[in-house]
Amino acid sequence: MGETYLVTGAAGFIGYHLSNYLLSEGKTVIGIDNLNDYYDVKLKRDRLILLEGKTGFTFHKIDIADRSLLEEVFKNSKIDYVVNLAAQAGVRYSIENPDIYIQSNIIGFYNILELCRHYPVKHLVYASSSSVYGRNNKVPFEETDLVDHPVSLYAATKKSNELMAHVYSHLYSIASTGLRFFTVYGPMGRPDMAYFSFINNFFKGKTIKVYNNKDFENDLYRDFTYIDDIIEGIIRVIESIPSDLHPMHRVLNIGNSNPEKLMNFIRTLENCLSISLNRKIEFKLEYEPIKPEDVHKTYASTNQLEELISYKPHTLIKDGLQKFTDWYVKYYFVEENHYI
Ligand SMILES: NC(=O)c1ccc[n+]([C@@H]2O[C@H](COP(=O)([O-])OP(=O)(O)OC[C@H]3O[C@@H](n4cnc5c(N)ncnc54)[C@H](O)[C@@H]3O)[C@@H](O)[C@H]2O)c1
Repeated sequence: MGETYLVTGAAGFIGYHLSNYLLSEGKTVIGIDNLNDYYDVKLKRDRLILLEGKTGFTFHKIDIADRSLLEEVFKNSKIDYVVNLAAQAGVRYSIENPDIYIQSNIIGFYNILELCRHYPVKHLVYASSSSVYGRNNKVPFEETDLVDHPVSLYAATKKSNELMAHVYSHLYSIASTGLRFFTVYGPMGRPDMAYFSFINNFFKGKTIKVYNNKDFENDLYRDFTYIDDIIEGIIRVIESIPSDLHPMHRVLNIGNSNPEKLMNFIRTLENCLSISLNRKIEFKLEYEPIKPEDVHKTYASTNQLEELISYKPHTLIKDGLQKFTDWYVKYYFVEENHYI
């Protein structure tokens, strides 16, 4: 029998790709997800359909905030590794819906820690976020930087996860690693994220709202990271179990370390969509001021990551976005006959 991985958020964007990769390597994957309707549930179900046909995959529709149901899973299977990706994501949504962030990201994560304490695993890897850096000006962002000034509740929950994991590693010697993801994109991605919603709006004939000042003096920069690079990174990190640290906890950036101006990103997206559709596309843009919960720039230092796993994300946005737009056109036009 191969090793068993518990992947929470398995119907989500990163969870699906990670589970898919692990299964292709012959691992056993127990997927958990509550299939909430934060974005199109059909996309979550379609991801699951792709996983469910594969040997070694089982799925439980469970909320990680429900301790007793979650405990049944830990009790009934010998889990080697836990990758906690289940969370309420999104920065803007946390303004209107704060409760769900506390429920999923704080109580849910606390349950994961408690169960890793009572049913020991070899390594707990969990999702943190570049948003913990808030509006820090010093770039690139390094893991040793002060991150005490988040600008959204979402970011505050992710920083809290890092503190909670530190405590559990200290008290109960749980080997754990928090990964600060930097804007992950790619096929089967998240419809709430800008690159995806830009294309949705284009096909709906709507203008594309860009939360950037029109003079571009304060241009937004984002470190966009392609999904395959993230999966390769997660896999290598899982295998590199912290044992010589006390406490056995660490936090690592995982990003492209090559920030892109938002406007360049939009032009590249336009270009990729033109190639996918074989006709010239032009987005109608509308500029809005940056929102208070948004950060201006994200830029990952990946020195610690490279030192540990001899790897850093490297996919160029023109290549990654091309894969995304090719997937999008196929998924929505061919399979769904959407928007035409
Ligand atoms: N994608 C990014 O750019 C990015 C950046 C930084 C951090 N992250 C973090 O990475 C993780 C995965 O992100 P993603 O982009 O795949 O998001 P996603 O929303 O596609 O995936 C999360 C999945 O978790 C599930 N979920 C949410 N709350 C749950 C709960 N209480 N119980 C069980 N399942 C629950 C959702 O239904 C969803 O399928 C999240 O923790 C997110 O905060 C993502």
